Amino acid sequence: MASRTAPARRPIGTATRGTTNPNRLRRMDRWIAHTHGPALRRSADPVAVDLGYGAAPWTAVELLARLRTVCPAAEVVGVEIDPARVAAAKPYERDGLSFAHGGFEVPLGGGTGRAPALIRAANVLRQYDEDEVAAVWSRLCARLAPGGLLVEGTCDEIGRRHVWVALGPEGPRTVTFAARLGSLDTPSDLAERLPKALIHRNVPGEPVHAFLRDFDRAWAAAAPYSALSARQRWIRTAASLGTDWPLTDDARRWRQGELTVRWDALAPRG
Ligand SMILES: C[S@@+](CC[C@H](N)C(=O)[O-])C[C@H]1O[C@@H](n2cnc3c(N)ncnc32)[C@H](O)[C@@H]1O
Repeated sequence: MASRTAPARRPIGTATRGTTNPNRLRRMDRWIAHTHGPALRRSADPVAVDLGYGAAPWTAVELLARLRTVCPAAEVVGVEIDPARVAAAKPYERDGLSFAHGGFEVPLGGGTGRAPALIRAANVLRQYDEDEVAAVWSRLCARLAPGGLLVEGTCDEIGRRHVWVALGPEGPRTVTFAARLGSLDTPSDLAERLPKALIHRNVPGEPVHAFLRDFDRAWAAAAPYSALSARQRWIRTAASLGTDWPLTDDARRWRQGELTVRWDALAPRG
């Protein structure tokens, strides 16, 4: 359980399991590089935070490498609430990559007033309570630089199934579903990886439940395309789903095994 009112100067949040894996967040990294690359290039200070990187700093190292393919000036600061995990990561510091002890207050550079152009929090909120999510989102969004992006979501241990929410300084914008398509029987297999804000809402009467039901129906109707490939079936599924749901991407991203829908279409009721 996370504390909501931490004393001053103590990191905000609670240390949780540090499970991570090399290359686990590749789908999210690639989506971020594609979606946010232009904004990072325009930024005067393209610093990204990998918040809650876990027991080993792999995801921060990889985020830097992937961001630098679209923004050579990008920097990554890994922020962890567990001081032992910060100490373990320090030897991996290098040009553009550093590690800091902190929590949802997202400390950057000890009072220098830096604001992150990107905050990525993967598999962090999963271990908090659903009713804590809105406050954490607001706090993180308030830390973003103008034009910044918060990406918060959940995946399986080796990153084959992944769902995340993207938020701007104004609040939530989109939800992205991404998978190694060969690992899926149906799109609703992704339900177990919904971000905390949605995972308890996959019940009849909630929009995310209706969306996953329609996703499965479109997938079933596209079954003949599996003779070509799972990718062709996914593309066909997405094209059909997009007639009823506000998808924000197109076949170029569907081809990667992704699909992004506007947040307001899936936002929980009440
Ligand atoms: C399950 S690990 C995820 C590691 C990595 N992000 C990944 O997806 O592979 C979650 C990590 O988040 C850290 N954490 C939890 N709450 C945090 C907070 N408020 N601020 C910073 N780190 C936090 C935990 O200590 C833990 O190491």
